Amino acid sequence: MSDRELLISGNWKMNHTHFDAIQFVQTLAALLRANPLRAGRALSVHPSFTALRSVQTALESDGVPVSLGAQNCHEAEKGAFTGEVSAEMLAKLNVSYVIVGHSERRQLFGETDEAVRAKVDAVCRHSMTPILCVGETLEEREAGQAHAKVSQQLEAALKGRSRAAVADLVVAYEPIWAIGTGLTASSDDAEKMAAHIRNEIEQLSGSEASSSVRVQYGGSVTPESAGELLRCQDVDGLLVGGASLKAESLYEIARAR
Ligand code: 13P
Repeated sequence: MSDRELLISGNWKMNHTHFDAIQFVQTLAALLRANPLRAGRALSVHPSFTALRSVQTALESDGVPVSLGAQNCHEAEKGAFTGEVSAEMLAKLNVSYVIVGHSERRQLFGETDEAVRAKVDAVCRHSMTPILCVGETLEEREAGQAHAKVSQQLEAALKGRSRAAVADLVVAYEPIWAIGTGLTASSDDAEKMAAHIRNEIEQLSGSEASSSVRVQYGGSVTPESAGELLRCQDVDGLLVGGASLKAESLYEIARAR
């Protein structure tokens, strides 16, 4: 473990109406009030667009120590993009973190490296923090290409960006074969990839950026697997899908040691 803050993020994907979301926040708030997270740990929740405003209000009205996150945004400032949501719209809801380039968006919605780069730009323009997702398929891992794939995704998204902007980033390593499958990367694999990501960022943006950037692991994280992953030196948090849908479970993950 380092002195970087650990960030545990719940990516709800396409789950929870705004009614469910409000209940979730109330439950999580009660757990945190009874037993706060220790210093150096932070939480974010990433509801669907339709629940963002409700979750914002629920968090802010009770002063719940949880950051608001989004799952995606469009790269353009505004315009004729039916059905899309801009970074400015998110920023006005006090969104702090925006997931960018999730593998489901890359694979199911054809999001390219260029689009991911432009989305990182848009999120930074509005002073929010991107959670940039990278990760390899099973075929790429078996072919020994995992590190090369992640390097290529990082370079596409980050090359030429200011050192300060990279230092503030969160990078989420999410091996695609571990997402929603019940398979978790071993803590050894997670640590090796997190160290590789930090190394790659050092090449791209220098050592200050690489020692400040936070690297999360994501892929079938559970309250049982969280502690070992969080003990990895270069892993600074977790991006949790299925196990973040229940407040109790996300809370257990955030407390794991
Ligand atoms: P699961 O935790 O459901 O595997 O999802 C991981 C993920 O994709 C988080 O963004």
